[in-house]
Amino acid sequence: MRLVIRKDYDAVSAWAAAFVAARIRSRGTGPGRPFTLGLPTGSTPEGMYARLVRMHREESLSFRNVATFNMDEYVGLPPEDPGSYRSYMRSRLFDLVDLPPENARLPDGSAEDPAAAAVAYERAIADAGGIRLFVGGVGSDGHIAFNEPGSSLASRTRLKTLTRETRQANARFFGGDPERVPALALTVGVGTILAADEILLLVSGYGKARALRAMVEEGVNHLWTASCLQLHPKAVVVCDEAATDELRVKTVRYFREIEGE
Ligand code: GLP
Repeated sequence: MRLVIRKDYDAVSAWAAAFVAARIRSRGTGPGRPFTLGLPTGSTPEGMYARLVRMHREESLSFRNVATFNMDEYVGLPPEDPGSYRSYMRSRLFDLVDLPPENARLPDGSAEDPAAAAVAYERAIADAGGIRLFVGGVGSDGHIAFNEPGSSLASRTRLKTLTRETRQANARFFGGDPERVPALALTVGVGTILAADEILLLVSGYGKARALRAMVEEGVNHLWTASCLQLHPKAVVVCDEAATDELRVKTVRYFREIEGE
């Protein structure tokens, strides 16, 4: 695992946007399979998305040959509902860049048969040739996508029941009321994320410090599903200084030295 420590949230966002843009650019816009990019929602990636949009406008970063697969979607919300992850993605990225609309995919949370929609999502990822880069965030309880504590580390896209903690944490997107946060979601599995060629995780703030410690210093554990990154040969975590508060001084020094700091 590579751990990159930046000063604050803005610096994390800038670093992550530059990383993603470099990967997109390395594929080019010519013919051939689109660059497949797994994407997260939540507060943490908002700064990264804002920067990617700016790079599109000012630095000719093109999404014409990109195909995105979001990590998760609430079940029971129509895509146009303001609380849906489709709406989130449209307002932060999809409608603001030249990504072909047919290349912007999320699990179908309004499908009549969510189990079949989960299988179809895995098939769509496979048909696209797998995910080149999966970008993610982490919940304060260490979850990745909506793989709540106790999720199988071999899991694939499926229906999950959200924990009270997660509904509480996401209530700010639903007028502050945790009861309005859907109780179910379709989410890619830990195994789906691990199958990507590369993983980039964004971690910001003291509220994520315990999760970061579990991911970096403790063992692979299904109660902190983001610790699955330890099993991946090309996983990068970019965090701010506040998120490192629960790490050992030795750990922080080691990773800083590797980055030449
Ligand atoms: C939700 C999402 C996760 C995200 C997490 C943290 O549970 N399903 O993908 O990582 O929230 O979100 P935030 O960045 O808002 O703290």
